[in-house]
Amino acid sequence: MKILIIHGPNLNMLGKREPEIYGSTTLEEIDSALVTKAKELGVEVTFFQSNSEGEIVSTIQDAMSKFDGVVINPGAYTHTSVAIRDAILSSGLAVVEVHISNVYKREDFRQKSFVSGVALGVISGFGINSYFLGLSGLVEHLSNQ
Ligand code: DQA
Repeated sequence: MKILIIHGPNLNMLGKREPEIYGSTTLEEIDSALVTKAKELGVEVTFFQSNSEGEIVSTIQDAMSKFDGVVINPGAYTHTSVAIRDAILSSGLAVVEVHISNVYKREDFRQKSFVSGVALGVISGFGINSYFLGLSGLVEHLSNQ
């Protein structure tokens, strides 16, 4: 089983970026821990990070024929991007939306997600554990199909 993990804008800054909200773990460290988790689950993971909405849309389109499912932290595009929502919808892929912080405990503008309505599920607020929970939930869902 092949899973694509997409990190949206500003997530390349993890470790330095607002550590009181996002913690001190870098994106590289998260990805390396996800490789370990993926091995335990017996799946293959591929990573993609971009600060550009268009690149994320193109990557989701390309993922259609190459991956079984996607874990995405769309970052701030969660709250603005109809284009990412449409790409997920047209891909037909099982997509799990994850957030490090609990977006429902934060500013009003973060309470709206364009992605949640087309996602298989959403995990928000467990720190970097959100990624591991999202990955294992997705793998379990796909295995039961
Ligand atoms: C985030 C939450 C978003 O609101 C924010 O814009 C991010 C990170 C999270 O992981 O908690 O960039 O997706």
